[in-house]
Amino acid sequence: MDFGSQVTQLIARRLRELNVYCEIHPFNAVDEAFLDAFEPQAVILSGGPASVPDEGSPRPPMRIFELEVPVLGICYGQQVMMQMLGGEVLRGDGTAEFGRAYVEPEGEATDLLRGWFLEGREQVWMSHGDHVSKLAPGFAVCGTSPGAPYAITADLDRRFYAVQFHPEVHHTPNGKTFLENFLHIAGFAGDWTMGAYREEAIRLIREQVGDQKVICGLSGGVDSSVAAVLIHEAIGDQLTCVFVDHGLLREGEAEQVVTMFRDHYNMPLIHAQEEDLFLDALEGVSDPEVKRKTIGKLFIDVFQKHAAEVGGATFLAQGTLYPDVIESVSFSGGPSVTIKSHHNVGGLPEKMGLKLVEPLRELFKDEVRALGRELGLPDSFIGRHPFPGPGLAIRCPGEITREKLAILRRADAVYIDQIRKHGLYDEIWQAFVALLPVRTVGVMGDGRTYDYACAMRAVTSVDGMTADYYPFSHDFLGETATRIINEVRGINRVTYDVTSKPPGTIEWE
Ligand code: XMP
Repeated sequence: MDFGSQVTQLIARRLRELNVYCEIHPFNAVDEAFLDAFEPQAVILSGGPASVPDEGSPRPPMRIFELEVPVLGICYGQQVMMQMLGGEVLRGDGTAEFGRAYVEPEGEATDLLRGWFLEGREQVWMSHGDHVSKLAPGFAVCGTSPGAPYAITADLDRRFYAVQFHPEVHHTPNGKTFLENFLHIAGFAGDWTMGAYREEAIRLIREQVGDQKVICGLSGGVDSSVAAVLIHEAIGDQLTCVFVDHGLLREGEAEQVVTMFRDHYNMPLIHAQEEDLFLDALEGVSDPEVKRKTIGKLFIDVFQKHAAEVGGATFLAQGTLYPDVIESVSFSGGPSVTIKSHHNVGGLPEKMGLKLVEPLRELFKDEVRALGRELGLPDSFIGRHPFPGPGLAIRCPGEITREKLAILRRADAVYIDQIRKHGLYDEIWQAFVALLPVRTVGVMGDGRTYDYACAMRAVTSVDGMTADYYPFSHDFLGETATRIINEVRGINRVTYDVTSKPPGTIEWE
């Protein structure tokens, strides 16, 4: 149950890394009827920003404590549990702890702490203002820290555990063992693997789709590719993929996608070659938002046109992932500013009267990659850097021309080749070249040149939300700049973009 902690997703990540399936549900969506239908084998109450002594602060339904399953309360989860079971919580009065703390064992050893305290104390991560001031009946202390006398508490008979620290974060180095112990106590076999997921997903797709037809927009990205391969395995040629080639793809990209899916996987695939349609519509357009909106709209038109050719499809497949699905608890509210209009096919299913098949809805990104490997997609494909829907259009600031796109494609290919040759591709979240809308003067041989400048971009990131520039060596930068200028006609100057996000964004538009 999510009470709005910044790190709730990490709890789910850790559990799944331990091969146990779990779901995150916001506290206000969990009631008795939900619990009875869901029948959890264990419950974890997350941390959160609210204060238990405050009137109206969130509470789980009492039924959670009557299910006779193990319950683990973390931070706010600990406090709310104590309060509801007869203990007390006090508002912070100088006992707040933020950051690293050290927990010492106390009382009897419990299975929850197997593998803990082998070297005396354990480092944990704390982040709390309030604290438990009186334990609920049945609970005993198993670990204390200077700021949290009730750092680890347990009611061993009822298998209720409540901790002040965050076992899910990396700064609690032994946190995974702690969670593993909890899962063990709850009797989980730890047999939720991608192999098992694949079997189950195939069964569910067959059940959902029956003998109807499905269409899938294939972008060549990891998510839609894995979804397509999985669905094809489930229902074979009832699936048709539509690959919209808007003329804004990287060098060799369209051929790679078409070869892999049509020839290697034998999937019915429509290769919609619509370069002229897109590039003509983009002629003279230099505003980034107008570019994005133009591409987004045409994309939907083209997709719809080709989907209609398939005839009688009742389902649309999408590679939606779990982070898009989690209905996160928000205490701040308020609309956020649109920085960029993202290109997606939102609203399409209603417009076309299609139902959705989303076989990756339960998965995180790295799980999708694992599933892709399980399905036999090549590693080189699965590890590919993300590529934006509007493609090279947003890497060519200002007006786009076919000439500029050709130059950009070549430069990008040389740059990525360099990164691969130096074994750096997998260390980088995303790398690409942007072609700048300026020409500069240079000298090559005995002649004057007046050609485009380009910027190389490479960032590290976990989720694309924040990013740092990648610290290439000067040798690498120099060698790559030389190669681009020598091998790409039309570029005579190379720069390296060292902006992080924020304040920059990863793409240039
Ligand atoms: P920015 O440039 O906003 O990009 O820092 C963050 C991540 O999102 C990708 N991106 C897009 N992906 N459609 C997509 O599918 C889009 O319209 C789009 N715009 C940006 C970008 O490549 C980076 O990984």
